[in-house]
This record gives sequence, structure tokens and C-alpha cells, in this order.
Amino acid sequence: MNIIRKFEPPDFPSVISIEKQVFNEHDPFFYMQFYETCSDGFIVAQVNGFIVGFIVGFLTPDVKGRIFSLAVLPAYQNRGIGSSLLKEIIEVFREIKVTEIILEVRQGNVKAKRFYERHGFITTDVMEKYYNDGESAYLMRLEM
Ligand SMILES: CC(C)(COP(=O)(O)OP(=O)(O)OC[C@H]1O[C@@H](n2cnc3c(N)ncnc32)[C@H](O)[C@@H]1OP(=O)(O)O)[C@@H](O)C(=O)NCCC(=O)NCCS
Repeated sequence: MNIIRKFEPPDFPSVISIEKQVFNEHDPFFYMQFYETCSDGFIVAQVNGFIVGFIVGFLTPDVKGRIFSLAVLPAYQNRGIGSSLLKEIIEVFREIKVTEIILEVRQGNVKAKRFYERHGFITTDVMEKYYNDGESAYLMRLEM
């Protein structure tokens, strides 16, 4: 059974493990901070009792929704789980009257860019050498 629900502290090891597998990175500090400061924007996908994906977003000081991270374990991709997570956070932002959601995508991440476009996001800017490794980012925006 697929469940989309708010993150709870016992999910933490699963989220960190997904982050390691999907992004090759590992930053538990960020995720604890998100839980403490904007827990409504921390959402997980659970399949048969296992956490297989998550999305994290927060409200910026100028009241935009900002998606920080979205990941689904490779074995569970292309089944609509990423879409369910994205739709859920869009609803969370809609409920608090956010009118615009922004995010960044690596220029080389063709799949994620297409995924966000399919959900109505448009590219508004390119941020040169945005990431630590020198890769540039597309800034994308969804008007609500
Ligand atoms: C981007 C990402 C989150 C998408 O998650 P996902 O669960 O695969 O997303 P979905 O299944 O909803 O959609 C992916 C594709 O599967 C297709 N799909 C969805 N449900 C499907 C189904 N039941 N049968 C067949 N195809 C399906 C969608 O049409 C979509 O096609 P597209 O790529 O041509 O747009 C995932 O690929 C991922 O974790 N990538 C690595 C991390 C990353 O890049 N994150 C985003 C940047 S922060």
C-alpha cells in the first residue's frame, strides 16, 4: 500500500539512507533543521511499510514556497510516487496561500527538469556554477 504522509522522527534513518543512495550526499543536520522549523513541508512516501521517497520544502522570507529536495529510491521511480509527493507539497503551500513555488535543478538533470515541467514549472533563470562542483542550475517556478 502506498501512503503519502508527514515525516516523523523515526523515518530519519530511511530519509538519510535515500539521500545517500540518490544524491551521493549525506547531511543529517539539514533534515533535522527542516523537521524543527517547517515540519509541514517534510513529507515521505511509504510503500508496504518502507520509506521509499521524500520531499522537503519551506517558506522563504518573501513568502514563496521553496522545494529543497525531492528523491525517490531508483527501484520505486516511474510509478507516480515523485508526482504524489510533489502534489502533496503543492497542496501544503496552497493551504497557506503561497502564490509561487520555486526550486533549482542541476542543468544535467534532464529527467528532473522534465518531471517538473510536466507538473507546470517553467524555467525562469540559469544560475551559473550554482553547485559546489561547478555545475549550473535552472531556476524553475510554478505559479499557483
Ligand atoms: C525526479 C524524481 C523525484 C521523480 O520521481 P518518480 O517517482 O520517478 O516520478 P514519477 O513516477 O511521478 O514520474 C516519473 C516518470 O514516470 C512516469 N510514470 C508515472 N507513473 C507511471 C506509471 N504508473 N507507469 C508508467 N510511467 C509512469 C511519468 O509519466 C514520468 O515521466 P517523465 O519522466 O517523462 O515525466 C526521481 O526521478 C528522483 O528521485 N530522481 C533523483 C533525484 C532528483 O533528481 N531529484 C530532483 C531534483 S532535487
